[in-house]
Amino acid sequence: MADLSSLGLSDWLVRQCKQLGINKPTPVQEQCMPAILEGRDCLGCAKTGSGKTAAFVLPVLQKLSEDPYGIFCLVLTPTRELAYQIAEQFRVLGKPLGLRDCIVVGGMDMVTQALELTNQPHVVVATPGRLADHIRSSNTFSMKKIQFLILDEADRLLEQGCTDFTKDLEVILGALPAKRQTLLFSATLTDTLQELKNIAMNKPFFWESKSETRTVEELDQRYILTPEKVKDAYLVHLIQTFTDEHDDWSMIIFTNTCKNCQILTMMLREFNFPTISLHSMMKQKQRFANLAKFKASVFKILIATDVAARGLDIPTVQVVINHNTPGLPKIYIHRVGRTARAGRSGVSITLVTQYDIHLVQSIEEQNKTKLKEYPVEEKEVLKILTQVNVTRRACEIVGTPRPESLSHLLVSARCFQCSGLYH
Ligand SMILES: Nc1ncnc2c1ncn2[C@@H]1O[C@H](COP(=O)(O)OP(=O)(O)OP(=O)(O)O)[C@@H](O)[C@H]1O
Ligand SMILES: [Mg+2]
Repeated sequence: MADLSSLGLSDWLVRQCKQLGINKPTPVQEQCMPAILEGRDCLGCAKTGSGKTAAFVLPVLQKLSEDPYGIFCLVLTPTRELAYQIAEQFRVLGKPLGLRDCIVVGGMDMVTQALELTNQPHVVVATPGRLADHIRSSNTFSMKKIQFLILDEADRLLEQGCTDFTKDLEVILGALPAKRQTLLFSATLTDTLQELKNIAMNKPFFWESKSETRTVEELDQRYILTPEKVKDAYLVHLIQTFTDEHDDWSMIIFTNTCKNCQILTMMLREFNFPTISLHSMMKQKQRFANLAKFKASVFKILIATDVAARGLDIPTVQVVINHNTPGLPKIYIHRVGRTARAGRSGVSITLVTQYDIHLVQSIEEQNKTKLKEYPVEEKEVLKILTQVNVTRRACEIVGTPRPESLSHLLVSARCFQCSGLYH
């Protein structure tokens, strides 16, 4: 395997990498970095947690150090939290350069962002909506000289999902020079390959990691077949088991809606589990604060919608639970990819109801992997079933309660249930 300097990186950059524990390049870095340094466009498709971020950050920093100016590089990404994470990587690796970055995302102060953009930062990391707003409303900054356009989670940026970025991308591409290097990365590029090739016109270098499966080998992929009504009892039981059996653990639970996120958080807190949530109906400052507390292990359980499914790199996450079976195999790949990163091991457990069996079959077929059943003592789950369901209903009725009104309802809920297992 090549080392970092033989790939064309300067000594100062190799030293920075070593400080961060990056000693040898991962395959996506080894393959893509020389092509990027040669000036080619690049499409890199490699599994979750395989170091795609450094595969584009390092060559950009190398080129920036040879000819530093602002704005040199624009990175687009679908979520705000991911934008902060990528900017952090640029900042840490680019420290010796005195790198100036600017993060342009929704939910944060637009005037501050406008001022920072005017100051010609070297690197702008943005979500498309907010950057397009700045381009539409201001002419105090120019991106006509950028050398690099990077789309991280490129397939998500180009697909027409619930958040459709295509209009904003058109505005942004209109403000960029035609002569530039375009770099596209994701763990799931293949569905949108044609659209991606249209953006990276300059005979892109395409690299995809060769593997039987689309998920990492270190990940133990499990499912639990459960009737809808027993799902939450399984969840509480699983969390209790992990709490009992592991000292140092943290877990992300994915669910389908913001409301469900909120209700599950309230419910699990009633069982005294250290739970915090992340979803798009929260104020942005709260989103950042919650994620920071989860990363610092102040809270061990994060309940999130798919806003947290892509890109987030939190090494302590050992378990991912899919409270709902993802409707698309690629959403499954990104969700379970929040654990078992960079060679670590991890477990994913998908709760599957009778209505979701076809979804699991399609996940297994497309990802070329088999999910194994997760063994659970059903008797133990049934013992807590009533208590869990009553607690959940109380949380649903109360909505966002004043603390005392919720406690009142939950005390009566507990009176229904004689098993004191989780008090
Ligand atoms: N060469 C390397 N050696 C060791 N660790 C590395 C190396 N490159 C990156 N890492 C670490 O691996 C972790 C995962 O990297 P990264 O977040 O870039 O993965 P990714 O491929 O972008 O995953 P995802 O598809 O989930 O976004 C990070 O903590 C990063 O610091
Ligand atoms: Mg990534």
